[in-house]
Amino acid sequence: MREGKLWFTNCVLILLMCESTLARFVVEKNSLRVTSPQNLKDTYECAIGNFGVPQYGGTLAGAVVYPKSNQKACNSFTDDVSFNFKSGAGLPVFLLVDRGADCYFTLKAWNAQKAGAAAILVADDRPEPLITMDTPEEGNAGSNYLQNISIPSALISQSLAEAIKKALRKPEMVKVNLDWREALPHPDDRVEYEFWTNSNDECGRKCDSQKQFVKDFKGVAQILEKKGYTQFTPHYITWYCPEAFILSKQCKSQCINHGRYCAPDPEEDFSRGYDGKDVVVQNLRQACFYKVANESGKPWLWWDYVTDFAIRCPMKEERYTKKCAEDVIASLDVDVKKIRECVGDTEADVENPVLKAEQEAQIGKGNRGDVTILPTLIVNGRQFRGKLDKGTVLKAICAGFEETTEPVICLRDGIETNECMENNGGCWIDKSSNITACRDTFRGRVCQCPIVQGVKFFGDGYTKCEASGALRCGLNNGGCWKDSQQGSTYSACIDNHTKGCECPPGFKGDGVKICEDIDECEEKTACQCPDCKCKNTWGSYECQCGGDLLYIREHDICISKDATSGVGWGFLSFIILGMAVVGTVGYAFYKYRIRTYMDSEIRAIMAQYMPLDNQAELAVHGSHGNV
Ligand SMILES: *[C@@H]1O[C@H](CO)[C@@H](O)[C@H](O)[C@H]1NC(C)=O
Ligand SMILES: *[C@@H]1O[C@H](CO)[C@@H](O)[C@H](O)[C@H]1NC(C)=O
Ligand SMILES: *[C@@H]1O[C@H](CO)[C@@H](O)[C@H](O)[C@H]1NC(C)=O
Ligand SMILES: *[C@@H]1O[C@H](CO)[C@@H](O)[C@H](O)[C@H]1NC(C)=O
Repeated sequence: MREGKLWFTNCVLILLMCESTLARFVVEKNSLRVTSPQNLKDTYECAIGNFGVPQYGGTLAGAVVYPKSNQKACNSFTDDVSFNFKSGAGLPVFLLVDRGADCYFTLKAWNAQKAGAAAILVADDRPEPLITMDTPEEGNAGSNYLQNISIPSALISQSLAEAIKKALRKPEMVKVNLDWREALPHPDDRVEYEFWTNSNDECGRKCDSQKQFVKDFKGVAQILEKKGYTQFTPHYITWYCPEAFILSKQCKSQCINHGRYCAPDPEEDFSRGYDGKDVVVQNLRQACFYKVANESGKPWLWWDYVTDFAIRCPMKEERYTKKCAEDVIASLDVDVKKIRECVGDTEADVENPVLKAEQEAQIGKGNRGDVTILPTLIVNGRQFRGKLDKGTVLKAICAGFEETTEPVICLRDGIETNECMENNGGCWIDKSSNITACRDTFRGRVCQCPIVQGVKFFGDGYTKCEASGALRCGLNNGGCWKDSQQGSTYSACIDNHTKGCECPPGFKGDGVKICEDIDECEEKTACQCPDCKCKNTWGSYECQCGGDLLYIREHDICISKDATSGVGWGFLSFIILGMAVVGTVGYAFYKYRIRTYMDSEIRAIMAQYMPLDNQAELAVHGSHGNV
């Protein structure tokens, strides 16, 4: 499980420090203090696993539990009687499991976490110096739960594990303290950290998690950098081609500057997609971006550049190009010319100072091992271990400050940046309405098409956002053309279309910026009958037929006023209508007469019994009220 594996896509490329010896790898450790039983009381070393969440800067107390079965924790602990939490006596459970080739360290940790353990202690199965437990290689099963491991893990020596198991068999309670406070140096009030990364975005899980991390961590990183709490430097691993192979096909497609700087082919296939040398050039451009941005006093722009580049210039869409990269650079208001100068002529047989410095920085010094794996994060000169996510990394960086000098962000998170103020953060904006895709979030600025007054905008957020949905014409006229003249108003936004703009009838144009009146008379699209008089108006036209003729607009024809056509049915229907009218009127008159007659009869009869004026009506109403 020792992680010494490099990205050897073929045997030609070499890392600088691999020339003579094996890469030097440092096992990062924290301490484990046994507080009971008495005979085991001491402080021991344990190795931090490269997954899960080590509590950098903190401690965790618990009681050790060793399961009666499933001791390698390769299976789930569900319906299992052997795993009894009561033995933890209310303390968090540190599940002790055995190392074994039957399953990955990560699966053991996942099973322990699912069963409710607060940490996992893995007992080494042979006497040897501690090793770093790592994640499975790419392509292996288990990556679906990997990001969900949230407990810390530690590998302990075989001898310590045996002593703990012996005490548990007695049975004795074994209480321990895991302590990460000294896992990272914390000498002063500024943390220096490096992130070794790559612009390649097609290497599967590792690339995806790198991209996600940069995106998530960006906001925090930028705040820390702007306020001077940290000094961050990005780095890029670079290979080189040995002298004898410089003219080989492999080196030509994977290297620049005559074999000096190389990167493995992204899809390990020289005949398709992007080549290793495309990756080196993009890496170099990112390193140069950092250099130029740092010189102008804004090193934090690197985070914007890298996230935007990943979003806008993915390999999958064949946009992993110089043009796309330079568009992103320009949108961030950084001098493209300076970056071109820094990249230099990649075909020339010369050294590039930036990449040369990167190669030298790869070689470990002091407590730091050589950088051989991607991604690698180094905090205050020590290699970070654990899952690469915002919370875990922030914890590690915060643990790098001298006590009491931590910035507020280490104590609580939730700070806004103000990046949309400048140049609109390089995002899309509609100048006429100030509707913008720039959003200030805790994660830094993001370019995301907005939702305004219930109207959703769609697009890439950088160059284009388009209103969509039923209400869109109510908002800035859906971004479409609209004009009023001669007392009438026309719009190119159609309410019941979900998107797009379309000039109304009588106009032509793109519908967004312009709709021009069509001169129907000039273009001879209407009113073309002989003797017709055509007059264009804005958005329409008027037509007058010659002689006694009548203009029928729908059909664009002139017809005679005493239209002889249609006499048959027209006349007949007139007769029928006439008869119907006469009938109806006659019937109504008859009814009216009957009614007035009846009314007067009834009134006469009733008047014999009661007075028939207003006074009487009031009396009737009054009696109702009393009921
Ligand atoms: C991991 O967590 C995510 C989100 O919290 C969840 O959707 C996913 O199902 C989890 N995966 C596993 C294997 O539990
Ligand atoms: C970035 O700029 C600072 C201050 O100008 C300087 O001290 C530092 O060395 C620069 N870092 C790099 C990697 O160039
Ligand atoms: C948009 O913002 C600018 C600058 O803040 C302002 O001058 C302008 O009036 C605004 N336009 C609208 C339509 O709100
Ligand atoms: C939608 O607009 C079209 C014209 O573009 C019209 O013919 C249609 O009747 C409209 N539908 C509804 C439901 O309003």
